[in-house]
Amino acid sequence: MLVAPSLLSADFLHLESECNMLNESKADWFHLDVMDGRFVPNISFGMSVIKQLRKTTTKFFDVHLMILEPEKYVDEFKDAGADSLTVHWETCPHLHRNIQQIKSLGMNAGVAINPSTPVFLLQDIIREVDLVLVMSVNPGFGGQSFIPHSIEKIKELKKLITETNSSARIEVDGGVSLKNAKEIIHAGAEILVAGNAIFSSENPKEIIAKMKEL
Ligand code: DX5
Ligand code: ZN
Repeated sequence: MLVAPSLLSADFLHLESECNMLNESKADWFHLDVMDGRFVPNISFGMSVIKQLRKTTTKFFDVHLMILEPEKYVDEFKDAGADSLTVHWETCPHLHRNIQQIKSLGMNAGVAINPSTPVFLLQDIIREVDLVLVMSVNPGFGGQSFIPHSIEKIKELKKLITETNSSARIEVDGGVSLKNAKEIIHAGAEILVAGNAIFSSENPKEIIAKMKEL
């Protein structure tokens, strides 16, 4: 089980010390949320910020692209230091091509699905991806409440992965906290993204350590 803190909830005035904190913590990945104000109703940060963050850590950069036409920027995210790129199913009419493009540059490739996008739509791509990101909130903002139906979706996805002999890992993003993490893992998730639960805590490292112990 991996913990991937989302920097979206970090203190942007002190990003370097937030990164140092994560380096000292048991966090496995850095989850980096890129938003374009078009696919989602918010704008976050892009490759120039990721490039700077890359100088602070050797941990794995899990980049979640909430942007239209992600294929236009794949090379630039690679150059900025991304280890994995996840694109949204809803933004990719040529998803197979997009996944191959990401993998051809030596990065892991993931596909994310919104709360209203059903799991069965992944059946023809599931063997190609390294991870599936199940959005358990509508993407765009940190600090929202976990949508309970996501648990059913994780179970269904786990079944699809087993049936198809896929090596894809399940990542869950949105409203994840110590309260629901156990149920999420039990349903089949291997990677937990958490923003608010970690960064709004008095002791972020302790929250991360407790998540790892579940
Ligand atoms: C939401 C982002 C998430 C977000 C999670 O669109 O994809 O990664 O930062 O934040 P919390 O854990 O606060 O819901
Ligand atoms: Zn995310």
